[in-house]
Amino acid sequence: MKGVTLIPVPDTAIIVVAAGSGTRLDGGAPKAFVGIDAHSILRHALDGVFASAPAQVVVVAPAGFEGDAEAELRVAAGDRSDLGRVVTGGGTRQQSVAAGLAALWGDVRTVLVHDAARALTPPEVIDAVRDAVDAETGVLPTLPVVDTLKRVDGDAVVGPIDRSELAAAQTPQGFPRALLESAYERALDEGVEYTDDAALFAAAGHPVRHITGSPRAFKITTPADLERTRHLLAERTVATGATTDSPPPPVSRVGIGTDVHAFGGDGSLWLAGLEWPDEQPLSGHSDGDAVAHAIVDALLGAAGLGDIGEHFGTAHPEYAGAHAAVFLARTRELLADAGFAIGNVSAQLQGNRPRFSARRIEAEGALSAALGGAPVSITATTTDGLGFTGRGEGISVTAIAMIHSDGRQAEKES
Ligand code: CTP
Ligand code: MG
Repeated sequence: MKGVTLIPVPDTAIIVVAAGSGTRLDGGAPKAFVGIDAHSILRHALDGVFASAPAQVVVVAPAGFEGDAEAELRVAAGDRSDLGRVVTGGGTRQQSVAAGLAALWGDVRTVLVHDAARALTPPEVIDAVRDAVDAETGVLPTLPVVDTLKRVDGDAVVGPIDRSELAAAQTPQGFPRALLESAYERALDEGVEYTDDAALFAAAGHPVRHITGSPRAFKITTPADLERTRHLLAERTVATGATTDSPPPPVSRVGIGTDVHAFGGDGSLWLAGLEWPDEQPLSGHSDGDAVAHAIVDALLGAAGLGDIGEHFGTAHPEYAGAHAAVFLARTRELLADAGFAIGNVSAQLQGNRPRFSARRIEAEGALSAALGGAPVSITATTTDGLGFTGRGEGISVTAIAMIHSDGRQAEKES
């Protein structure tokens, strides 16, 4: 078998039911093929499915749309396309699921049944359902019911309903394969249509548990739902620069950082990337350069990458005694890895000493060089004798940074 790589066959399958007509959406095509943005409902659903752990994926398509479903599946699956196949659905959702069940591989032990119409379901929900299924128990994601509920009869309100006993069901719903198959045979024999797979499974006498679902796993049913989906995707586009086809628009973000150090210790002062030989030093894990540290926090904060303690704190002894150039160059690298370029940085120093203005240009140049040439400006002020800075006990610095996405984090998101 030299040269042949055997891919392990997954023990889980996800049946994506997409064979409905979408009567209530009325989108001019079967619901799964209605466009949300540049991509269809089915494509978005499959993107979520393929972002979850590897599984056999069976797409159940409306008769006559098998080829379209194949095309969507191939693109969404990428290098996992061997795991996917398309089958033809039936006249009811239950019949469509049954068609999917008939296409499962022999090794599959756990089956997840998922509505394509829940196009934005996060992959984490899919994985959580899969992990929660055991040999006897079915699992479904739910959300608490938030509205106050009433029992009605015509226009009369008959009574209240205790909503703490209720939960709204979502998909994917996960089951041990053997029990789900026999429950489907039983339903077929009975000729009963159940509202969902969990109900069908429970009717065969098996336990079902629920885990926390996601607001993003809502089902696209009406034109208003489609509008909501578009808004949610557009929000993500603004937040991350992610789009489906066109190049991402530039996205700018700001961050703030503060640092305080007390004067103390031996040696000379390091501040704003410069050595100040005749000044009292600042104490700290590194060289105590409060200007550099505030800038690092502003940059990390802007990119949402945590803070200076996480990346350079005492858990990183390699930075003990390090100077600004090292911190800033590493920070710039972390941002670049996350897809961000630095726009500019502005920092303000509060303290009596050193007298900063004489070396302002030099300091700005040193910090800017460490940040790959991004403009850095530093202002300095005293605090009128007030507070610890006024008493000459230490220095306080506040920095803000603006950064721009270079579009690469958009690719990671989409
Ligand atoms: N479904 C299916 N086969 C059917 C009916 C529904 O595969 N015969 C799928 C739908 O494609 C959808 C999911 O089951 O992903 C949930 O069904 P629903 O939201 O009711 O979709 P439609 O039946 O397409 O919509 P409508 O009821 O408005 O016609
Ligand atoms: Mg329907």
